[in-house]
Parts: sequence; structure tokens; C-alpha cells
Amino acid sequence: MNAFKEQPLLEVRDFQVELITDAGIIRAVDSVSFSIHRGETVTIIGESGSGKSTTAMGILRLLPEDLAVLSGTVMIDGVDISADTKAIDKVRGKTLALIPQDPMTALSPVHSIGSQLFEAIRIAGAASAKDKGALQARAVRLLEQVHIPTPEKQLKKYPHQLSGGMLQRVLIAIALASEPQLLVADEPTSALDVTVQGGILDLLLELQEQRGIGILMITHDLGVARLMSDRIHVMKDGSFVESGDVQQIVDHPATEYTRTLLSAVPVLGPWDETPAASRTGGAHAATPDPALTQTGAKP
Ligand SMILES: Nc1ncnc2c1ncn2[C@@H]1O[C@H](COP(=O)(O)OP(=O)(O)OP(=O)(O)O)[C@@H](O)[C@H]1O
Ligand SMILES: [Mg+2]
Repeated sequence: MNAFKEQPLLEVRDFQVELITDAGIIRAVDSVSFSIHRGETVTIIGESGSGKSTTAMGILRLLPEDLAVLSGTVMIDGVDISADTKAIDKVRGKTLALIPQDPMTALSPVHSIGSQLFEAIRIAGAASAKDKGALQARAVRLLEQVHIPTPEKQLKKYPHQLSGGMLQRVLIAIALASEPQLLVADEPTSALDVTVQGGILDLLLELQEQRGIGILMITHDLGVARLMSDRIHVMKDGSFVESGDVQQIVDHPATEYTRTLLSAVPVLGPWDETPAASRTGGAHAATPDPALTQTGAKP
């Protein structure tokens, strides 16, 4: 763990997002502050509609400008992207990458895995579109990094030919194309079977250990938060109701709201991947039996 003397990778101060809706203005994010250093995972956890995704999308400036009014300060690796809105273009997909929520819808069904990965590599500036050999080599390397077997073969496949767990690995490979220092992962495993979740979370921890990346993890699942996080911010109605290190929040939740989240901790299954044929598609992580919870929290 770092000594916290260096500049944070992400520093968010008094961040606020107001959404302009037909029903009026909703303050979806109400004055939140947090920071993430290299090698750290900071998790925002909260119930559905508490404002987690709006916080992440607001930081990344991915909300439509005419519908979302942002205020406060967001510094990415010392660059104030809230003061200079063009500055986000210099960091998004470079210093900063997003792992989107649903692997089934985040990829284009009509393009091969290879062509989608090549596009990410080209945008990251890691190889030119004309240099097919370099694109292929980099794509294979990225798929190897996320432990996809026989990468050359997978590049020719289309999303429907891969399992949910493999698709999530492809999305992580796409996010890694630019060698980001900070990953924003919005519910990276919530669309996956419980048995596949563990493998993906393990991969993120491994990448973090190898490369010292910072991770902003968004989840509604305290089991995931507990396994991954250095610090947790518990979000309700757009605000953080409590913040602290993972052990403190799990062992001594200060609010009834956090206790409710705790009572729905899921069981993380073994670190294997379920083949597409045996996926049920409907399995969800929330198994309200705290006695069966994952014990392997992040050291
Ligand atoms: N496009 C939109 N139009 C209107 N209201 C919205 C829109 N997007 C989000 N909201 C509102 O903003 C609030 C925060 O939503 P947000 O999607 O950030 O929650 P969340 O914590 O990510 O929830 P989930 O766990 O379901 O993903 C909610 O009250 C939601 O209804
Ligand atoms: Mg969300």
C-alpha cells in the first residue's frame, strides 16, 4: 500500500450532478468527495437508484451535457477536468478507462471480437490501423493478459459465441488497451453467474497487483466490495451516508442502511467459468445468508 504522499490518481471534491428530467430536476449526486491513489480500490456501494452510475458517468463526463449539470472538482492525476471540459478527452481511454456494466450489450453483435479490440488499440494509439501485424500481436497479448485461452481463435469469433465470463474478460482487455492507470468498473460482475464473478474479480485484483492501477468499483453487492476494496463509500439518495475502510464498514456498520446491504451478502463461487451451454442467465448474486459469505477479503 502506498504512503498517500503522492498525488491521487482521482480526486473528487463536492461533486454534484443534477439531472434535468420531465418530472423536474433531480439531484442524483449530492456533494460527494473521495480520492483514489495508485494500487487502491475504492468502492461506491448502494441500493439501486442511489446515484452510483451517475457519479461514475459524471466523473467520466459521459452524461449528456444538456441533461446533466455538474459541479464540484474532479482531478485526474493532477489535471482538473472540471475546470477544462476538453481535458477529459485527453485522459478518457488513456489514463482512465471504463469497464461497462453488461458484457452482453456493451459489445457490438455484428463485429468480431478482433475488430472491436483492434479499434480500441487503434484509438489508444498503440498501433496503426494499417499495421495489421502489430494490431494482431497487441490484441493477442491483451487477451492473454485477461487469461482467454487460444486468443488467435477467439479474435475471429462474434460476441454470441463466447460465454458471459469470457465477454467480460474481452471488455476488460478493451479497457486495458490504453494501459490506463485508473479503471472505473460499473458493476463489472453483476450480469454474470455467481460462479463466474469470482474469476473476474480475481483478474482485476491480479491486474492491480501487477500494474498498480487504481480502481473505482461500483456495486450494490457488499460481498464484492468486501473482496475488492481498500475503502468503501456507502451511497444513499445521492450522498455518502458512511465511508471507511472495508473492515470498519463490514464489522461496525454505522447505519441501518448499511446493515441491510450487509444482510444480502452473496456467496462467491469457485474461481471457474461456466460454459455458455450451462448458463441459466438468471442467476443473481444476492443470497441472503451471511453465514456462507466469502472470507477471502483483500489483504
Ligand atoms: N436518464 C435518466 N432520467 C431520469 N432520471 C434518471 C436518469 N438516470 C438516472 N436517473 C435517476 O438518478 C438517480 C440515480 O440513478 P443511478 O443510475 O445513478 O443509480 P445507481 O445507483 O447506479 O442504480 P443501479 O444500482 O440500479 O445501477 C435515480 O433516482 C434515477 O432514477
Ligand atoms: Mg448503476
